Amino acid sequence: MADDGRILVTGAAGQLGAVGRTVCGLLLDRGLPVRAMVRREDDRAAALRAVGAEVVVGDLLEPADVYRVVSGCRRVYFGMSVSAGYLEATVTMAVVAREVGVDAVVNMSQMTVSQMSIQNTTSSGQQRQHWLSEQALAWSGLPVVTIRPTMFLESFSPLAAPTVRNRGRIVVPFGRGKTSPVAAADVARVVAAILADPRPHLGRIYELTGPRSQDMHGVAREFSDALNREVTYSDIPAEDWERELKKLGLPEHLTRHLVTMGELHRAGRYDRLADGVERVTGRPAMR
Ligand SMILES: NC(=O)c1ccc[n+]([C@@H]2O[C@H](COP(=O)([O-])OP(=O)(O)OC[C@H]3O[C@@H](n4cnc5c(N)ncnc54)[C@H](OP(=O)(O)O)[C@@H]3O)[C@@H](O)[C@H]2O)c1
Repeated sequence: MADDGRILVTGAAGQLGAVGRTVCGLLLDRGLPVRAMVRREDDRAAALRAVGAEVVVGDLLEPADVYRVVSGCRRVYFGMSVSAGYLEATVTMAVVAREVGVDAVVNMSQMTVSQMSIQNTTSSGQQRQHWLSEQALAWSGLPVVTIRPTMFLESFSPLAAPTVRNRGRIVVPFGRGKTSPVAAADVARVVAAILADPRPHLGRIYELTGPRSQDMHGVAREFSDALNREVTYSDIPAEDWERELKKLGLPEHLTRHLVTMGELHRAGRYDRLADGVERVTGRPAMR
């Protein structure tokens, strides 16, 4: 396939944070050619095509698919939804990107990885796989830029919306732990800025948080102000939350990840502030 400098964006249809989908729009706004990889043909694929992306369908766990979508691209954003096959997909991407030869791979990771080591991992398979993926990419010798966002602001919505709507409460087991969620739109702005001009960023790791670290009572006050009605925070035991998550029928991998996030919040591990958004984009992270 001819190489015209196209930028591959994986996970482009968007599900939760939809970082890939936003990155596609930002790159197209800059006049850059984008190949958007989606898992299936649907309305989201049609919407990407309508704004000017070349849409390709494929499975990140299928090496032949990955080879087909990477071929002809010089730069890659690699991210996909939280899933049990994340490490396999990352290593598959690394093998293919080495074979094809690319100028830059922007790898989505998680801020928790900053605190992980052989002796100190977490009980989230997703976080462990990000930790291992970062190392595999480092060994690959590829020109990699790693972004490590904290929890996305958008993750609060599915977790908090039902109880905020029905009971005026955010109900999570975060104790008095503080958190500094980052907007997925800011994460996407960082990714797009790097992909547009990767050279100064190669080999770097950017930690991304929002501008404020506060406990869930503070978050509840922000909900109150935004909704113009009282929203409070109720701390619950981790076991109760796990039971509620299980009732939702989420995949076990995702449930385990969310339960771990709750435990780490309670232990104060999400009380972090980092300036990656401003350093890369020149604009502070949004509230
Ligand atoms: N949410 C958070 O708070 C948070 C915080 C820090 C880091 N992260 C990291 O951010 C990443 C998720 O980013 P996001 O929220 O932007 O993603 P997303 O919107 O949830 O999902 C992106 C896309 O990945 C696609 N996908 C899943 N498996 C695939 C496969 N095997 N082949 C091809 N495509 C596949 C999905 O396609 P379909 O929609 O068609 O299924 C989805 O549209 C994860 O690495 C996560 O660890 C998340």
